[in-house]
Amino acid sequence: MSRERILVFDTTLRDGEQSPGASLGVNEKLTIAEQLARLRVDAIEAGFPVSSQAQFEGVQLVAAHIKGPAIVALARCIDKDIDVAWEALKKAQRPRIHTFVATSKIHMEKKFRKGEDEILEMAVAGVKRAKSLCEEVEFSPEDSARTGLEFLLRIVEAAISAGATVINIPDTVGFAMPEQFGALIRTVRERVPNIHKAILSVHCHNDLGLAVANTLAAVHNGAQQVEVTVNGVGERAGNASLEEVVMALKTRADFFGKTTNIETREILRTSRMVSSLMGIPVQPNKAIVGSNAFAHESGIHQDAVIKDATTYEIMSPQDIGLQSNAIVLGRHSGRHGLKMRLMELGYQPQPAELDHIYQRFLEIADRKKEVFDEDLFALMSNETQETKETWSLAYFHILSGNKTVPTATVGLSRGEQVVQEAAVGDGPVDAAYRALDRMVNLPVTLQDYSLRGVTGGKDAIGEVFVRVRHEGVTWLGRGASTDIIEASIRAYLHALNRILAAQTASAPGS
Ligand code: KIV
Ligand code: ZN
Repeated sequence: MSRERILVFDTTLRDGEQSPGASLGVNEKLTIAEQLARLRVDAIEAGFPVSSQAQFEGVQLVAAHIKGPAIVALARCIDKDIDVAWEALKKAQRPRIHTFVATSKIHMEKKFRKGEDEILEMAVAGVKRAKSLCEEVEFSPEDSARTGLEFLLRIVEAAISAGATVINIPDTVGFAMPEQFGALIRTVRERVPNIHKAILSVHCHNDLGLAVANTLAAVHNGAQQVEVTVNGVGERAGNASLEEVVMALKTRADFFGKTTNIETREILRTSRMVSSLMGIPVQPNKAIVGSNAFAHESGIHQDAVIKDATTYEIMSPQDIGLQSNAIVLGRHSGRHGLKMRLMELGYQPQPAELDHIYQRFLEIADRKKEVFDEDLFALMSNETQETKETWSLAYFHILSGNKTVPTATVGLSRGEQVVQEAAVGDGPVDAAYRALDRMVNLPVTLQDYSLRGVTGGKDAIGEVFVRVRHEGVTWLGRGASTDIIEASIRAYLHALNRILAAQTASAPGS
């Protein structure tokens, strides 16, 4: 029996990147886009080009390099947005402009001070302009789940008549209940007379923890495209998670009777790459990709799984790319072996970078006997940090103990100049951060600090994520090392360098 294929539209690089502090450099975007292509998503929303030069360049780079999936750029129903989106997209093999306008009463009144007719005119004009530039045009009535039904049906019909090839129904604020959202999709299918001329898509946010449930209810009621993000990252509580939606459709094909084109064995790799490049850790009990998702703790469960895995496993770990023999490299591995493994993990190390990466790899291999894929992800997230390093870590020395005042001496280099500061603190990390503050001299507050071992074992690499706040904006930093103090210093310094790089980029004449 052939099953209907549900199209997977990934918006990790656009809505996902709207997670606080999660901004990506353009090359990091390209690295993730390449991995999304290997995952075989149908569309990649690469950014919102009019919103900044970096967004424009990110979309342009992805459009120029990625073949296969449609490359999508977001634009409000405003001429300038649409023209800039097209400019960024035009080299894509399959470009798509995604234009949107808010249609709920509260958004129309408060954001636009416009009535339904004026909003409908904006939508039609936006879709027509996009269509004059690009064959594939997606239209979203923002906040659809809180939009009056009759107006929603009217604007969807008008957008299709104006040339939209995809209609996306977003639950922008994660307000809908699954039954209600499913019924809404069914109504759009049944009551919009020209709906068969467009692909019907859904885009759900997770404010009530229902994004995946709402997405699946929509599929069950006739949605043909799902808009999702890797690890469910996104604005506020995030978006529907790609891996959860895809694996639900696969595991319960008996219920949904649908399929996707996703290469599910790439799921775990993609999840780890996104987590480490965005600096957003995955919670251990996260469905599908959490470190506990396939771990069986109770003796009864373990015994049963040994007898027959399907007693407690509804999916095979191999299906998402989890391999039990994940040990890959060690101190005797050569440069070629390292390069091949990195390429399998989705990185394309350039010959000029490989020497440095190999040196870092040997340092890790010297401290650890076995180097796992997770270690390589952590290593590469240090290496692919694109922020221009104003300050680099030269050395550090820590004095700590339960009867000692924790003291840190840290040396930083900036070009030829090396500066040094010492400070005391509540603990060694606090002392080191105080020393860094004195040298870098940026008023920041540390909002969040998290440390995780990227693998099990006493010799695991520690990966540190920090969030710092500077002038009302959150910045994220990450660092990894087998020494957790070093990882902590690198993470904080990364965040500070990001702030300095942004200040330089926006300085007049730069
Ligand atoms: O959540 C939302 O409504 C969006 C639109 C731009 C589709 O992200
Ligand atoms: Zn959204």
